[in-house]
Amino acid sequence: MLLKSQHSGAASRGTHLIRILMTILVTGGAGFIGANFVLDWLAASNEAVINLDKLTYAGNPETLASLQGDARHQLVQGDIGDAALVSRLLAEHQPRAVVNFAAESHVDRSIHGPGEFIETNIVGTFRLLESVRGYWSGLLDSDIREQGLAPTGVQAQAPTKGGFRFLHVSTDEVYGSLSQSDPAFAETNRYEPNSPYSASKAASDHLVRAWHHTYGLPVLTTNCSNNYGPYHFPEKLIPLMIVNALAGKPLPVYGDGMQIRDWLYVKDHCSAIRRVLEAGRLGETYNVGGWNEKPNIEIVHTVCKLLDELRPKADGTSYATQITYVTDRPGHDRRYAIDARKLEAELGWKPAETFETGIRKTVAWYLANPEWVQHVQSGAYRDWVSKNYAGRQA
Ligand code: NAD
Ligand code: DAU
Repeated sequence: MLLKSQHSGAASRGTHLIRILMTILVTGGAGFIGANFVLDWLAASNEAVINLDKLTYAGNPETLASLQGDARHQLVQGDIGDAALVSRLLAEHQPRAVVNFAAESHVDRSIHGPGEFIETNIVGTFRLLESVRGYWSGLLDSDIREQGLAPTGVQAQAPTKGGFRFLHVSTDEVYGSLSQSDPAFAETNRYEPNSPYSASKAASDHLVRAWHHTYGLPVLTTNCSNNYGPYHFPEKLIPLMIVNALAGKPLPVYGDGMQIRDWLYVKDHCSAIRRVLEAGRLGETYNVGGWNEKPNIEIVHTVCKLLDELRPKADGTSYATQITYVTDRPGHDRRYAIDARKLEAELGWKPAETFETGIRKTVAWYLANPEWVQHVQSGAYRDWVSKNYAGRQA
């Protein structure tokens, strides 16, 4: 893995041509889902990844440590909103696709401070779209071999205007909240975002849609339910519960704990993105979900039970004794559920994990990787925990 500064020089023309044939640009690829995507991508393909990540508190190059020395991966620290940087990366590496994971992603943080969410998720996506539009409109209409630039026999993979794709990774939260009796979110549901986070993601989805309808940019959007799995930052429900349980700390359940989320193992989200990137219809949106609706309190009990089995407490009590009900999240959405039938029927995608297999793998991963957890629990992480939980009455 190479870590490049923002000011690296342009590749020579010869090197450039090799990259043309074998590259995608991933943004936010040092975060939870983006890093899982990059690791899975490079495990399954030789196509290189340029990974543009601002390395905010949520971005962690350590997650990509296994790619150290792997010439197929280059991590570039920078902002999707930096038009000069993004345009230079696009011109230099000529990717055939851009997959946009970069975002501020935590609902609680968006309630405490929405500014960064507006900046990255809305303004950043706008600037990224403009940089990508500039690159895409300069791509050749015909393949590169016809221009005498690429060696014979490899032209099929060269980026043409028609072949380029921009995939925007979004969330089910844009659809708002469901009542118990509502059907699951379909792609046709209207957008009703309720938090600063979901409103900013909804805005970004609208921008992506508009860049397709107005400029013809070849876009795809995926709207996924709650992910869980390895390398999940321990500010989110499942990793927070695992980490707090092992540390003997309270397990803070918001409100009555009966809010429902629809859970998908992160690697299944990554396989869905690969499938949509490969065969999705341009301009379409695809819901991604695992048909695993569960109330939060059930999730917390499942985590406790697995820990009781895999790492029993010395005093013989259950981790569930640490569960503490705390003040609810303001504006807390009651229920999300995803109808993923379009993706399943059109593109033949199916999740590989059930919730039972995925959650067991996840708990086992956290037990096997305590150093990763210790390293992300920086001073900034500790500040966040005291800010978010200090005001909540038990
Ligand atoms: P994350 O917070 O773990 O990672 C986000 C990454 O983006 C980090 O590496 C961060 O450094 C980077 N980043 C932030 N601002 C940036 C900027 N301005 N320029 C470049 N990089 C920047 O998030 P995640 O959970 O991996 O989510 C990834 C994407 O998937 C987000 O767009 C999110 O909205 C979406 N999503 C997440 C879930 C989920 O359950 N986590 C579900 C559905 C959709
Ligand atoms: O639905 C997809 C979304 O899922 C993504 O778009 C977001 O990026 C991702 O963060 C996630 O949002 P949630 O708000 O659903 O995830 P979180 O893990 O923060 O919370 C899950 C549920 O658990 C939610 O109902 C709030 C509750 N919760 C969360 C925390 C951190 C608690 O009860 N206690 C907690 O300490």
